[in-house]
Amino acid sequence: RASSSESRGALIVLEGLDRSGKTSQSSRLLSYLEGLGHSTELWRFPDRNTSVGQMISAYLSNKSHLDDRTIHLLFSANRWEKRSLMETQLKNGTTLIIDRYSYSGVAFSSAKGLDIEWCKAPEVGLLAPDIVLYLDIPPEKAAERGGYGGERYEQLEFQRKVAKCYQAQCDSSWKVIDACQPIEDIEKQLQDAVLDHVIACERGRPLSYLWP
Ligand code: TMP
Repeated sequence: RASSSESRGALIVLEGLDRSGKTSQSSRLLSYLEGLGHSTELWRFPDRNTSVGQMISAYLSNKSHLDDRTIHLLFSANRWEKRSLMETQLKNGTTLIIDRYSYSGVAFSSAKGLDIEWCKAPEVGLLAPDIVLYLDIPPEKAAERGGYGGERYEQLEFQRKVAKCYQAQCDSSWKVIDACQPIEDIEKQLQDAVLDHVIACERGRPLSYLWP
C-alpha cells in the first residue's frame, strides 16, 4: 500500500492565552484517549528539558535577555529539535497532544511587532496539526484566574495583543472553544472535536506540513 494510506497517530494542538486552561485540559484529553485504548502522549512547547529549552526558560523567567528575533528563532529551533521524534511517534501510531505549537510562536512574537510572515518562515516544514483546539478566553478573565506566575509575557496589556495575533491566524480549520464554560463542558467539547481526527489518522490520513 502507498505510504499515504498508512495508519498513524493524530497531531492535536491546544492553543490559547496564558491561563486559558490548556494544560489541565490537555491532561484530561490524554486520559480520555488512553481510556479509549489509543496510544497517546502529552507534549508541550517550549520543551524546557533540552539545552535550547533551558535558554528559553531563562529568558521567560527574566534571567537572561535576548533580542526579539533571537528568542523567536530559539522557540522555533525547540520545535525543530523534536520534529523527527514527533514523526516517528506518529508513524508508530501514537497520538500526540501538544500544549502550544507554532501558533504560539507566531502569536507571541508578532504581538511584539515582528512581521507575521517573518515569524511564520522558520516554521515551514514542521508537521502540521490535524486539529488546532483554541481555548478562547478574554484576556481580562485569564488575568483574574489565580494570578499570573510572573513570567515575562504574563501581563494583561501584552496578552491583549497576543489575543489579536491569535485571531489573525485563526481560520475555519480551528476548533474555537469558549474557555469560560465549566471545566467538564470544555472537556466534553474537546473530546468530541478530536475523535473523528484520531479515527481518520488511524485510517491513513496523510501527514501534512506547515503551512498547509
Ligand atoms: P508555557 O507557559 O506554556 O510553558 O509557555 C511559556 C511562554 O512562552 C508563554 O507565555 C507562551 C510563550 N511562547 C512563545 O512566546 N513562543 C512559542 O513558540 C511558545 C511555544 C511559547
